[in-house]
Amino acid sequence: MPDSAPHTTRRADYHPPVFLIDTVELDFRLDPAATLVRARLAFRRNTPGPMRLDGVGLTLLEASLDGTALPQERLVHGEDGSLTVEGVPDSGTLETLVRIAPQENTELSGLYTSGGNFYTQCEAEGFRRITYFPDRPDVMSRYTVTITAQRELCPVMLSNGNPGGTGHGKDGTHWVRWVDPHPKPSYLFALVAGELVTVHEPFVTKSGKQVSLNIWVRRGDEDRCGHAMDSLIRSMRWDEEVFGLEYDLDVFNIAAVSDFNMGAMENKGLNVFNTKYVLAKPETATDGDYQGIETVIAHEYFHNWTGNRVTCRDWFQLSLKEGLTVFRDQEFSADQGSRAVKRIRDVRGLRAAQFPEDAGPMAHPVRPESYIEIDNFYTPTVYQKGAEVVRLIHTRIGAAAFRRGMDLYIARCDNQAVTIEDFVSAMQEASGVDLSRFMGWYDQAGTPELTAEDRYEPESRRWVLTLRQQIPPTPGQAQKHPVPIPVAMGLLDGAGTELPTRLAGENEARPGTRLLLLEGAEQSFTFEDVPAPPTPSLLRGFSAPVKLKGVAPERLRFLAVHDTDPFVRWESGLQYATGLMLRMVEQQQRSEPLGFDAALEEAVRTTLRAAETDPAFAAEALALPGEGFVADQMEIADPAAVHAVREHLRAEIGRRCADALRATYDGLAESGEYRVDGRSIGRRALRNACLAYLVAAGDTGLASAQYGSAGNMTDRLAALSLLADAEGPAREAPLADFHARWHGDDLVLDKWFSIQAMSKRADTPAAVRALYRHPDFDLRNPNRARSLIGAFASGNPLHFHAEDGEGYRFLADAVIALDPINGSIAARLIGPLGQWRRQAPARAALMQRELRRVLDTPKLSRGTFEKASKALA
Ligand code: ARG
Ligand code: ZN
Repeated sequence: MPDSAPHTTRRADYHPPVFLIDTVELDFRLDPAATLVRARLAFRRNTPGPMRLDGVGLTLLEASLDGTALPQERLVHGEDGSLTVEGVPDSGTLETLVRIAPQENTELSGLYTSGGNFYTQCEAEGFRRITYFPDRPDVMSRYTVTITAQRELCPVMLSNGNPGGTGHGKDGTHWVRWVDPHPKPSYLFALVAGELVTVHEPFVTKSGKQVSLNIWVRRGDEDRCGHAMDSLIRSMRWDEEVFGLEYDLDVFNIAAVSDFNMGAMENKGLNVFNTKYVLAKPETATDGDYQGIETVIAHEYFHNWTGNRVTCRDWFQLSLKEGLTVFRDQEFSADQGSRAVKRIRDVRGLRAAQFPEDAGPMAHPVRPESYIEIDNFYTPTVYQKGAEVVRLIHTRIGAAAFRRGMDLYIARCDNQAVTIEDFVSAMQEASGVDLSRFMGWYDQAGTPELTAEDRYEPESRRWVLTLRQQIPPTPGQAQKHPVPIPVAMGLLDGAGTELPTRLAGENEARPGTRLLLLEGAEQSFTFEDVPAPPTPSLLRGFSAPVKLKGVAPERLRFLAVHDTDPFVRWESGLQYATGLMLRMVEQQQRSEPLGFDAALEEAVRTTLRAAETDPAFAAEALALPGEGFVADQMEIADPAAVHAVREHLRAEIGRRCADALRATYDGLAESGEYRVDGRSIGRRALRNACLAYLVAAGDTGLASAQYGSAGNMTDRLAALSLLADAEGPAREAPLADFHARWHGDDLVLDKWFSIQAMSKRADTPAAVRALYRHPDFDLRNPNRARSLIGAFASGNPLHFHAEDGEGYRFLADAVIALDPINGSIAARLIGPLGQWRRQAPARAALMQRELRRVLDTPKLSRGTFEKASKALA
């Protein structure tokens, strides 16, 4: 446990800042062991109270007020590292000089070194590790930053804003100045310096402003920046076209760093990226990597308006920028290729990460009520569910009103730190729709469950649909209120043709999809002139982040083939297969033989026949529900039984459909130049989906052949991940080959670790222990830690939940070792242990024991303490 009980911050306790800082001048003298930071803050009183400045791990060397040195008695150091300056006037200039040690900074928060270069990460509370400051997002200031360093140590020195001059010092030093004209909160500060090379493109905004785009990487990586640059340019154009938002500085810099806690960071004019989301070439990056780059580049760029120009008043409002920006990047990606496939993938992601969170010990509203460590709230709920809530508003008011709402939001809140209410009220005013009840989506945790019942009245030709909602209790929120749920729907006749629909009270029937709004706990909708009992297609496009329950299997089978909405077609197939697998899991638990449902073979064959029109969709439709998803539908999970059932079905499908799978596989053989457009990606995805079934049926040789001949990483890795489950030389040779070929490339080597961590082989828990001690394993590098520990604990339910508890023990050991190095990553990795309530008693006890062992560790970080203690509460 931390030495003193960690403090809980509550949303209800918000107070405006006591002092505002209008301008900040920062002077850095960079040195890996001892960097000096001089800060000149022009302050102005805002409310009564003392001047308390945040600080963590800073060594204060000098402090002065309006040019006069401050005596020690007026400088009060807090236990938390903060500094209170006594007797300050209502306005003036405070100057401090501090020393920090970037090379000792293993937490990667604040200023740190990576590969000899300097980088910063300030969101959420890293700036206080650089200098004393009111480190909160509602203090917005104009920054001027001057960086001085040895020229050979740091030929390149970057910060936010526009270039503001350079010069030479004595002793081989040089300096660079950056001036950011836009007021910003401290979490958007950034500094990058060292030996970097740039890939450059010019850009002209739609109003004719010239912008210099630069991606800064280590020498040798220049040939891997093309996709990131291309994605950036497309993002900039898209934001101009769709939202009328233009870039607002002369330069836009992106720096890539291989030691980084998160995906990327939207610092004003100087985004810092995990190399994973910048660097790609076909030989080293998979299609998934390419898509990740496009998404993250767009996401960080879009933050320039939704996050930077308009920022958050406090960290409880985090989804104001994150939910909205994820919504924007999702829409961007949907416009780049297949909207339906993008939606399917996003929903898959939401269900894999957010639904379990919403049903677990860390369940929290999109706008949380309290936190111990804000880093723990950069969650799928704040990001992905937050984006779903923005989408609900978009669906409810329509695209045109949403655009007017965005215009109003930005016009009204520009250069301010605001709240979620400010966003919702802009949308409400622009649309004229009362959105007050949508606030329930922001303030209540838990995934609503939606059920539908219907009846047909032949005499009156009426069809009545009754929708009901229920939101399960979550920690601290026992009682829930109904939320408005937009249900996009349509009706199909017996032949699968879409019927026009007319609700009671309407004059005319409408064609196609329509929107029903369920506002209370239960509501009925009466449709007129319905000739025969129809099949309803509900929640088209996943119009709300809910669990739709109880649709009958016959209807699912019908919808999977006939619905006009591609999402519902996919979803119905998935739900049908899930129901089937859940019944088979029970058979497996009773040791009954597992059969096979001929409907699955039919579905696979139908999908393969139609695959040519949209191969990416076909690949999605072919995939069986994941083990995690199936287990999530069970009261008490049974990872081993779920695994056995899924493997059985995969092998059966592979065997029964071998002819069709092989024909599709051969027909999609790699030809010509590698391309990353949606169709090419879809073709590779489909081909590799076929390969997986064929290997499941025993054709390991096909994977070996593909591994050997693949011309790109997507196909090579797809083959290798299948071979990693095999026995003997089919596995060892390609794994050794892969290591020999790529051990010098960190991002590729991460894949080598992950593949082995996710293997189904019985010896995987022992292999994972051995990989943890492998010379290439490095706990201090977050990507590497995630690639082994995260991949095992989150991506290998079978072995993580090994009966003897070895998976749990390994995770706890790793978390305990990592916590003193990087508490933020340790806290993230511990997550899966928190799901013990969903396991059978013996496993649950083993998981709790490991959580307690973590909690008993001295000097635990606040973040890991919060996760472990809430998991046990
Ligand atoms: N704002 C960044 C993004 O979403 C993420 C930063 C997260 N930082 C953290 N310490 N959790 O693009
Ligand atoms: Zn973001």
